[in-house]
Amino acid sequence: MNSRRGEKERDNILTKKLYVKTYGCQMNVYDSARMADSLAVHGYAPTSTPDDADLVILNTCHIREKAVEKVYSELGRLNQIKKARRGDGRRMMLAVSGCVGQAEGTELLRRAPFVDLVMGPQNYHRLPELLRRAEVRGVVDTEFPVESKFDHLPDADPASANSGISAFLTIQEGCDRFCTFCVVPYTRGAEYSRPVKHVEAEARRLVALGAREIMLLGQNVNAYHGDSEGYSADDGHSEYSLADLICRLAELDGLKRLRYTTSHPRNLSADLIAAHGDVAALMPFLHLPVQSGSDRILKAMNRHHTADDYRRRIEELRRARPDIALSSDFIVGFPGETDTDFEATLELARDVGYAQAYSFKYSPRPGTPASNQNDQVPENIKRERLEALQKILSRSQATFNTSMIGRTLPVLFERPGRHTNQLLGRTAYGQWVHADMSEEYRGSIADVVITEAHTNSLAGQAVVAHAGAATEMPKEAAARAEGQTG
Ligand code: 5AD
Ligand code: SF4
Repeated sequence: MNSRRGEKERDNILTKKLYVKTYGCQMNVYDSARMADSLAVHGYAPTSTPDDADLVILNTCHIREKAVEKVYSELGRLNQIKKARRGDGRRMMLAVSGCVGQAEGTELLRRAPFVDLVMGPQNYHRLPELLRRAEVRGVVDTEFPVESKFDHLPDADPASANSGISAFLTIQEGCDRFCTFCVVPYTRGAEYSRPVKHVEAEARRLVALGAREIMLLGQNVNAYHGDSEGYSADDGHSEYSLADLICRLAELDGLKRLRYTTSHPRNLSADLIAAHGDVAALMPFLHLPVQSGSDRILKAMNRHHTADDYRRRIEELRRARPDIALSSDFIVGFPGETDTDFEATLELARDVGYAQAYSFKYSPRPGTPASNQNDQVPENIKRERLEALQKILSRSQATFNTSMIGRTLPVLFERPGRHTNQLLGRTAYGQWVHADMSEEYRGSIADVVITEAHTNSLAGQAVVAHAGAATEMPKEAAARAEGQTG
């Protein structure tokens, strides 16, 4: 090809713009970044608005009903832009990925025939090929392919949204637990753990791109049981547990902090609890959804644990790591939930004293067993219960945040704050902190005296370079920080 023409074609290719809108959980955020990576190779550059996009992807969530309706109304808005662009002689491709894509499949093309491509979360590695097919006619791909998408997606791009100081890494996907309210086993499929070698290689790449913290992701992440291919786990098994994996990743040079989410109480094994006490890089925070405090409801939810089992797990965790901060998910108004059941949930929430928690009204999901129960709880009762629970949870969060005032906490600074010379970072317990810091501290851990507590964040003043193993301040900045207090 003559080089002028080659350049021109390359320019044309490079002018393609991609807009991805992500709904739902962190796993979707990770998937969106990986889709953007795989399209970057094909010349798509990200844009922050759908108005000038050649390709719009809605990466969707199906966990609760409103999310689906939101997707359909967003699609309606996008169709207006698509039509306007067609009027200007340009084409905007519209794709729906994620769990709504998986669950709705061809129904989505029926309700929104202007959509070009519908695909489930297991098919992102086929995205470029699917888009080529979609240029001719609407494509639906919701199969569960035999090959794993993880093995076929390109490596993270340095410009990718997932190359920050705190990065996501999906290590496990799907779920075999079949809680009776949940669509995940149907939309994400059977549980799959990525091999240790692949996880480790990706973690190394993320650290090389600047990550100082990695959040290990999975729908049921503590069920992780990865093929260890040549490594042997602590107990000589050929599979790594999540605890084994954490111990291994904690050794990576430059990686300061590890977190994981989301866990099931039944998969919280003794070695994982012990890791919370033994591995300094594993942060003292755990999101451990309980869903309900009533044994009757837990049984109907198919959770395979009682409220007491859960409380015992918390005690064990606190024995291993006394300052561990806890978070949870709750569902109120599950079919058949009585006032007594709900009281038990309130009691558990009060007793645990969560650092933060999410709570939802039960939302019947088509195809899940609980949606067929005929003892559905009326909407007004669900609303009242949610309010009552949220009052307790926000009080608990406020108490936790206020207890930080006056304490000196190591904070990993991640991003610029709203004001000049201000940075935002996280404590080990996961709270956001803003402090007056110059840009050069970004990516460093510094000690901060907490001066204010708000509902969702803290404010503080940096004192000196943090003296622990996890410290890595730029030399100049550290010297200046010393000077400030000395
Ligand atoms: N209705 C309400 N909340 C749900 N969740 C999952 N499915 C439903 C549903 N059908 C909540 C659970 C889960 C979180 C991710 O979403 O609390 O832990
Ligand atoms: Fe859904 Fe979590 Fe239950 Fe799996 S363990 S079915 S993802 S709520």
